[in-house]
Amino acid sequence: MPNRLIVVTGANGNVGAPLVDALAEQGISVRAAIHGGESAFTADVETVHFDFTDRQTWPSAFRDAQGLFVLRPPHLSNVETTIHPALDAAIAAGVGHVVTLSVMGAGANPFLPHRRIEKHVESQPVAWTHVRPGLYMQNLSGTHRAGICKHDEIIVPAGEGRANWVDTRDIGELAAMVLAEGAEHDKCIYEPTGPEALTYHTVAGILSDVLDRKIQYDRPGLWRYVQHMRCDTNFDLGFILFSCLLHTLVRLGRSSRVTDDVKTVLGRPPRSLREFAQDYADVWRS
Ligand SMILES: NC(=O)c1ccc[n+]([C@@H]2O[C@H](COP(=O)([O-])OP(=O)(O)OC[C@H]3O[C@@H](n4cnc5c(N)ncnc54)[C@H](OP(=O)(O)O)[C@@H]3O)[C@@H](O)[C@H]2O)c1
Repeated sequence: MPNRLIVVTGANGNVGAPLVDALAEQGISVRAAIHGGESAFTADVETVHFDFTDRQTWPSAFRDAQGLFVLRPPHLSNVETTIHPALDAAIAAGVGHVVTLSVMGAGANPFLPHRRIEKHVESQPVAWTHVRPGLYMQNLSGTHRAGICKHDEIIVPAGEGRANWVDTRDIGELAAMVLAEGAEHDKCIYEPTGPEALTYHTVAGILSDVLDRKIQYDRPGLWRYVQHMRCDTNFDLGFILFSCLLHTLVRLGRSSRVTDDVKTVLGRPPRSLREFAQDYADVWRS
């Protein structure tokens, strides 16, 4: 496998961080493009300040790179004026393979920002691979952490729908393999999911077992959920509406499809939700 310099945007994020670690562990040259905050990476990982909304940060991020991992930060909706021009700059600088982080179902939603990014990449003279994951297990250690720690509950309007929970470490490791191997994944679409689709009731039960205390699943209707998010959390309205859409899809059974893509690319099964809960248990104990 020839060594290539890979640039990872969103390097401090749920997927970017394990992706950078996986590339570094394989001995692949990696440049972590960090928006804010400190680098938590080992000294052999090059870091650079990067902002999709600030063109001056782009040349030093893309210089000499062959591969690029691009995500859409959740608050950036106007991808045409931010992410598309950054991609153009990367390709003009010599990047030959772009891996996009998208979302399962994006292919059927042309107005979704993720799909707009995918289509832009497909229209450029560059090899591309789309990674469209299922629902992140790390939402439980991120978005839902405060509710679990303070009130022993998860509140989402997902009814009894099942979701194909995937560990973002598996997504990062899959993306690392794709970026390391490069153009043999040209025009491929991967949909990493966990091993099984689980309801929030089952998830709350697994967390209860692992944490040895009762975690409840409260399944409000949309209106009560919006009221709860507005009054009891700091999330902005855009995020709340996105969360309503996401969990309505779960409730309707539209997020339950499980794939073999982690095993196909990595040669091992995806992590289970119980493994994830055991690895992250301290997050909900503090
Ligand atoms: N949550 C789910 O279940 C789920 C499922 C499928 C797909 N997705 C998609 O996954 C993506 C998010 O991935 P993630 O969870 O790995 O990310 P994340 O943890 O939400 O982190 C976002 C990253 O983007 C960086 N960032 C923010 N503003 C930026 C800017 N202006 N320029 C450059 N970087 C910026 C952040 O850096 P700082 O923190 O330093 O600002 C951070 O590293 C979204 O597009 C989401 O729709 C999510």
